[in-house]
Amino acid sequence: MERLTSPARLMIVSDLDHTMVDHHDPENLALLRFNSLWEHAYRHDSLLVFSTGRSPTLYKELRKEKPLLTPDVTIMSVGTEITYGNSMVPDLGWVDDLNHKWDLGVVKEETGKFSELTLQAETEQRPHKVSFYVDKSKAEEVIKELSQRLEKRGLDVKIIYSGGMDLDILPQGAGKGQALAYLLKKLKSEGKLPVNTLACGDSGNDAELFSIPDVYGVMVSNAQEELLKWHAENAKDNPKVIHAKERCAGGIIQAIGEFKLGPNLSPRDVSDFLECKVENPNPGHDVVKFFLFYERWRRGEVENSEAYAASLKASCQPGGVFVHPSGAEKSLVDTIGELRKHHGDKQGKKFRVWVDQVLATETAPGTWMVKLDKWEQSGDERIGCTTTVKFTAKEGEGLVWEHVEQTWSEESKLKDDSSWII
Ligand code: GLC
Ligand code: MG
Repeated sequence: MERLTSPARLMIVSDLDHTMVDHHDPENLALLRFNSLWEHAYRHDSLLVFSTGRSPTLYKELRKEKPLLTPDVTIMSVGTEITYGNSMVPDLGWVDDLNHKWDLGVVKEETGKFSELTLQAETEQRPHKVSFYVDKSKAEEVIKELSQRLEKRGLDVKIIYSGGMDLDILPQGAGKGQALAYLLKKLKSEGKLPVNTLACGDSGNDAELFSIPDVYGVMVSNAQEELLKWHAENAKDNPKVIHAKERCAGGIIQAIGEFKLGPNLSPRDVSDFLECKVENPNPGHDVVKFFLFYERWRRGEVENSEAYAASLKASCQPGGVFVHPSGAEKSLVDTIGELRKHHGDKQGKKFRVWVDQVLATETAPGTWMVKLDKWEQSGDERIGCTTTVKFTAKEGEGLVWEHVEQTWSEESKLKDDSSWII
């Protein structure tokens, strides 16, 4: 969060399963649309927060399965664990708050008396979260009875039902809503309260997110019955909360537009990139568009025309160098030339490209360094490179690519790199 020196323009706090991630969309199209919108128009001055019911173990698994961006803040285990940055540094202050009237042993003892409860996997049992499965028809009764018993034992807990099957028991002060309130308070104390905050969710454990004051909210179109019921009973007159018409990440994009929180046109929805203008253009935008063009080129979705190749070459410095992740140094212009041979080679195949953490800095007047992670999914294999691009402003030509350097991401090191172009 230190990355931003002033308040974020937008902070998105989103649930993952069935909100950011559509498990019914094997192509991940809505997620990829969100990703390019975020990297193009928001990454540099906004904050991305994932708030999931998953434990760190299952969260990391989801990151391997789906093209998720890297968030600034990760809230896991239904608001009981908060971490910051790429290295996921835990917020120890938050954990301290959660020990109030909480005793894991007592929760286990009391829940053990309910035959309707089936314990979830070991990974999902956390210091401040105990989770079960329970049949929809039994849920209400079990929650009532269990609350009374735990209260009698001196505990103050919160019992949340989600997805028509999951039952979580947490300390009263925990939960996605409380974790968001804590984060907002922390940002405010640093003088960085976001200008706007948008909460996004689909199920019972997201309901709290929609009751935090001054926060916009979107329930995606595919929201669960228990969330819609909660909304009808508690928040139906709040104009800041909408039920989107679109599923998952499509609903998030829709809400950005409806609440007028900033640009809502994803570069993926633009066939001619020249239409995709932003208020303060910077070379980060060129990078997002270039890699999207690269995907379309290899999928054969853009025409193999002389004009495209010429305009790409014209945006490269004639003596510019590209350091391939294998370490080989090549001419930048030749690398672009090489792309021509690959036109349509991924046609009809599972092939997607996305960029993550695109950040541009002006290192000297007229010189920019853009840092990003570029990912490529080909069939079931995914490889990625940390990429830096140096741009310089040339009289009459705008920004030109001067130097590109790539190194393999940790998980890509041992893979075959012969098919990697750029
Ligand atoms: C995630 C967690 C699970 C929890 C559910 C609802 O699926 O893995 O433990 O019960 O979210 O919060
Ligand atoms: Mg969900």
